[in-house]
Amino acid sequence: MPEADTNAKEKQYRPEVPQKMKPFPLKGAQSYDWGMKNRLARTFDPRSGRTVMLAVDHGYFQGPTTGLERIDLSIVPLIPYCDALFCTRGVLRSLIPPQSQKPMVLRASGGPSILKELSNEEIAMDMEDALRLNACGVGIQVFIGGEYETRSIHNMTRLVDLGMRHGMPVMGVTAVGKDMKRDAQYFRLACRMIAELGATYVKTYYVEEDFETVTASCPVPIVMAGGKKLSEIDALKMAYNAVISGAAGVDMGRNIFQSDDPVAMIQAVRAVVHKHTKPEHALELYQTLKEKHAGKRASAR
Ligand code: 5RP
Repeated sequence: MPEADTNAKEKQYRPEVPQKMKPFPLKGAQSYDWGMKNRLARTFDPRSGRTVMLAVDHGYFQGPTTGLERIDLSIVPLIPYCDALFCTRGVLRSLIPPQSQKPMVLRASGGPSILKELSNEEIAMDMEDALRLNACGVGIQVFIGGEYETRSIHNMTRLVDLGMRHGMPVMGVTAVGKDMKRDAQYFRLACRMIAELGATYVKTYYVEEDFETVTASCPVPIVMAGGKKLSEIDALKMAYNAVISGAAGVDMGRNIFQSDDPVAMIQAVRAVVHKHTKPEHALELYQTLKEKHAGKRASAR
């Protein structure tokens, strides 16, 4: 029998206190429903409003990329240090421990290999499967200026419609063709189009000149793509400059997992993204951690 609510203590209706509700801090995300916001809040750390996403989806078009030959050995140990993992559903099911508490953002486009025209992609995952896998987002390439530009845009808008129906954020990725100029003018166009057509956030490359105009003119958060492997200091400088120019974090792959010490590098990237640690200090952190790890390995031998 449920008990009658006869507590003698006076009820705490507090009519004089307006109902409390924190504003949702992520750029452009105020109008979304609770499920979408909750997935975003798990991906972008609410304390800093930024994310360190670890991108390991490269195999979907280029096979066993250097550093990703054995995801169980090289990437699983990095999971505790990222805010979210960007991977394919194949890798998620086969290699990522389901005990992991980290949000998973799933690659949802694919088709051509590096041997073919890359912009000829299709949606490569059902939204129902993303939900079944408890994903926190899905990511898709958009080839502005590419041969199959319109197709890739329609792929994204279809995914956005499905995402809206199910509360699933969509990350639109600016995919740059081999011979295309990577400058602020191009990325302003690409990021703005991707946002206007409904992406929840955009992944794009950093450019040294006028990157702040790319972030300022994009009405949703931008995460910086890492690109090809640089020296640790250059990668940290790039992440730092992107964040102080308005990026809401990074989605970096090779510059983390191809580093001499990926566990040290991801922690250095975290310091830059979440604490605005200067690149030189973040490099010191990287070197200290690297030496510590080398010492541990030596004493274990
Ligand atoms: C290409 C992608 C990738 O597959 C990947 O995420 C790239 O990561 P990185 O360039 O940092 O190695 O999205 O656009």
